[in-house]
Amino acid sequence: MSDLFLREARGEATERRPVWMMRQAGRYLPEYRAVRAEVDFLTLCRSPDLVAEVTIQPVRLVGVDAAILFADILLVLDAMGAGLEFVQGDGPALRHPVRDRAGIGRLAKPDVGSALGYVFDAVRTTRRALAALPDPVPLIGFAGTPWTLAAYLTQGGGSQSYPHLLAWSYRDPEGLERLLALLADVTIDYLLGQVEAGAQAIQLFDTWGGLLSEERWRGIAMPHTVRILEALAPAGVPRIVFARGSAHLLPALAELPAEVLSVDWTLPLSEARRIAGPGKVLQGNLDPAALLGPVDGIERLTARLLEEAAGGPHVVNLGHGIFQETPPEHARAFVQAVKNLSGNTLPP
Ligand code: CP3
Repeated sequence: MSDLFLREARGEATERRPVWMMRQAGRYLPEYRAVRAEVDFLTLCRSPDLVAEVTIQPVRLVGVDAAILFADILLVLDAMGAGLEFVQGDGPALRHPVRDRAGIGRLAKPDVGSALGYVFDAVRTTRRALAALPDPVPLIGFAGTPWTLAAYLTQGGGSQSYPHLLAWSYRDPEGLERLLALLADVTIDYLLGQVEAGAQAIQLFDTWGGLLSEERWRGIAMPHTVRILEALAPAGVPRIVFARGSAHLLPALAELPAEVLSVDWTLPLSEARRIAGPGKVLQGNLDPAALLGPVDGIERLTARLLEEAAGGPHVVNLGHGIFQETPPEHARAFVQAVKNLSGNTLPP
C-alpha cells in the first residue's frame, strides 16, 4: 500500500507531498453521476458495493493519494431519529428539527452498530476494494463536529446563518450544551466503529465553526470537539480537523489534540504555519474555485501553494469541497501538479 498520506499526516519526512480533495467523490465526475442516475443519495450511502465503487472513482480517475469514505455527516442525525431526506436540488432536510430541551428528549442515543452498521459495512467493503487496486491508498473516515451537526439539526436543513442554533446558544446555553454532549457521545461511538471497521485516518468537519467568534468557539464548540479527538487517541489513527471560515479560529484550532489542521482558502499556509507552529501538519488549501480556471493557472497556483507550505509537513488539498462544475481534467491537473512539483523532505 502507498502510505505516503499516512506518513505525511504523522509529520514524517516523505518523498513528495500527498494530495487528496474534499468532496472528491461526487458530481463533477461523470462516472459518479452515472451511479447516481440509478439510485438516490441515501440508497447509495446504504449500499456498500456502490459506496466502494464511488469512493474509489477519484483514486482511479484523478490519482489522489487517499480515499475518503463516501457517506455524509448527516447520517448520524438520521440514526438519532431526525428524519434525513435529500430533496433533489434543495440539499438536505431534517423532518424533525430539534430546537429546545424537549426536542433533545425525543432524540435516540442509537446503538451505532445497528443504526449505522451499513457505514461500517461500507468501510470494510471499500478497504477490500482498495486492496485490490494496483497501488492501494489509505481510507479516511469522517464525521461532523457537534456544533456543525447541531446547525443542521436545529435548522432542519441547510442555511447560510443558522438562526435557530445561534438563538439557542444565547437563550439557553446549558440546554444547547446537553445537545452538543449527546452529539459528541454518538459521534465517538460512530468514529471508533469506523476505525474498527478499517478507516485509517479520521477527519472532523466543522463546516459552521466560523459562525462563532474565537471566544465563543472556545466556550461552546471546542470542548466537545476535544472530547471526540481525545476518545480517538487510543485508536492510533491520524486525526484531521477542518473548519471553514476559520482564519480567526486558528490559534484555538491549533490547540486541538489533532495531528492535522485543515485550513480553508482564505489565508496563506505560511500564515497558518506561523500561527499553528512549525510542528503542526497542515492540510489544504487551494481555493476550490481555482479548479474552474485554466490548467496553466492551476499549475502556477499549485506551485505557489507548495512554496507557502514548505516550512513543515503538508497534506495538499483544497480549502473546501470541490465544485460540481469542475472539469475532471482540471482536478487531474491539480493532482498531477502536486506529484510533479512537490519536493522530497527525506533526509539525504
Ligand atoms: O468525497 C467525499 O468528500 C466523501 C463524501 C462526503 C459527502 N458529504 C458526500 C455528499 C463528505 C465528506 C461529505 C461531508 C458533508 N456533508 C459536509 C462537510 C463538508 C463540507 O462541505 O463542509 C456537509 C456540510 C454535508 C452536508 C451535505 N450533504 C449538504 C449540505 C449536501 C447538499 C449540498 C450538495 O453538495 O449537494 C449534501 C449532499 C452530498 N453529500 C452530496 C455528496 C456527494 C451530493 C449528493 C448528490 O449526489 O446529489
